[in-house]
Amino acid sequence: MKSLIIYASKYGSTKEVANWMAERIGNNTHIHDAKEMPDPSDYDLIIIGSGIYSHHVLKELNDFVEKYREQLAGKKTVVFGVAIDTTGVFVRGKVHGGWEYLLPLINKLPEPPIHAGLLGGEINPNKLDEKDTEGLKKFYKMLYGKETDIPFKTVMDKKAVWSFTEKILDKVGGNFIV
Ligand SMILES: Cc1cc2nc3c(=O)[nH]c(=O)nc-3n(C[C@H](O)[C@H](O)[C@H](O)COP(=O)(O)O)c2cc1C
Repeated sequence: MKSLIIYASKYGSTKEVANWMAERIGNNTHIHDAKEMPDPSDYDLIIIGSGIYSHHVLKELNDFVEKYREQLAGKKTVVFGVAIDTTGVFVRGKVHGGWEYLLPLINKLPEPPIHAGLLGGEINPNKLDEKDTEGLKKFYKMLYGKETDIPFKTVMDKKAVWSFTEKILDKVGGNFIV
């Protein structure tokens, strides 16, 4: 069984999560940036994931699914998002965040994925470009009512990533050398 991991990552945390998954799966795993747009035709299992920005996956992952919709038909797929809020919140009768981030991408796939979920990411204020710094400063101002420095925050968790990957391996059965 051949597996392909496609990641869309602006600051590297989704790439790191993808590497942890590949490490757990072991042999026969190829890993690519979504921007490279590799053809998934030769693979049996295709895992796609993106960092979450303002409630959305990055454009290149949507582009990947749109470009290869036909080639993805009949394949086993997995979808993951990397975010700070991995559970979502329930405010005034509505769920915000959490699964909502992934559903538009899941609905674009020709068939439902065999597994999907959100994994913890990281915000490092020293890495952010000007636009993202401005965006987050506005967000924190709204939250705290005053100008605030963007705090360093990490919820990266290799154990959680391996446990997510083990659920994928359980679902595909014993075809992997692990
Ligand atoms: C401008 C900006 C917007 C973000 N929006 C969200 C969001 O809506 N929900 C969330 O849980 N995390 C949000 N995050 C946190 C990212 O999902 C987190 O930093 C993730 O690890 C980024 O992945 P990457 O490093 O692979 O790009 C945001 C981060 C930035 C910089």
